[in-house]
Amino acid sequence: MTADDYVYVRALVERHTGIVLEADKAYLIEARLGTLARRQGLPSLEALVTQLRQSPGDALQPLVLEALTTQETSFFRDGHPFAALRQTILPALLASRETTRRLVIWCGAASTGQEPYSVAMLLREHFPQLAGWQVRIIATDFSEAALNRARAGHFNPTEAGRGLDERLRARHFHAAADGWRIREELRRMVEFRRLNLIEPWTDLPELDLVLLRNVLIYLGTETKKGILRRIHRQLRPDGFLLLGAAETTMNLEAAFAVTHLEGTTCYRPGPPPAA
Ligand SMILES: C[S@@+](CC[C@H](N)C(=O)[O-])C[C@H]1O[C@@H](n2cnc3c(N)ncnc32)[C@H](O)[C@@H]1O
Repeated sequence: MTADDYVYVRALVERHTGIVLEADKAYLIEARLGTLARRQGLPSLEALVTQLRQSPGDALQPLVLEALTTQETSFFRDGHPFAALRQTILPALLASRETTRRLVIWCGAASTGQEPYSVAMLLREHFPQLAGWQVRIIATDFSEAALNRARAGHFNPTEAGRGLDERLRARHFHAAADGWRIREELRRMVEFRRLNLIEPWTDLPELDLVLLRNVLIYLGTETKKGILRRIHRQLRPDGFLLLGAAETTMNLEAAFAVTHLEGTTCYRPGPPPAA
């Protein structure tokens, strides 16, 4: 790939996803696009970039964007946020929504579904009183390929082994060809749909709880600021936001109040605490 090709690919990725691939990520671009070129039956990486440049809007483009996106995830990833959900956040929301009996949860970078399914399992396991409530878990991602895998709810043995103990696996999955398939009852609790965080968020209702984990780290500062401002508007005033362990609203969106809970940090749309 020429230096000009790198500049072209990096600009394409940022324009369509907000993801900033630093200049030192050339090896990553080359490795991932090399694999894609082989899978597409193209003779070389150069041939792939040439095709991309010649017809930027065709079917190759989403494949390139997906190839350059990190979709790493696991069930109950990092543990602490799920402890906070169980011990503090969900009990608080259940108490404050007792009259409306409605709860809307959004996973804004859901990847292949492990995160929203973890939330669904948590609700099933620990909050039986939600039976009879209208609970929505909306799980979105820009990657159709990730969403299709999430909707299928099929996880290979390695994926099913990450973060999921045998008891939960036995209760919420059944053995399927080469892996485990999520039980229909749990699958139906999650609505998967495509949403690109840097495009308009159409049809997203008012939210009680947002999980936007391990995606902001890939985005540029102004993009992060814009996304956090929109989450602030979309969250109910007493709602909660959880980010990834390496992410924060600090220096990006001062209107969130920062609270430390059960080894994790959560953000609430209140005014910042007085200095
Ligand atoms: C590292 S995964 C995080 C998955 C999960 N939230 C977790 O913490 O395990 C990042 C996800 O963000 C998605 N993503 C990246 N840019 C996006 C954008 N502009 N809009 C929506 N999703 C995006 C990727 O497709 C990927 O599935």
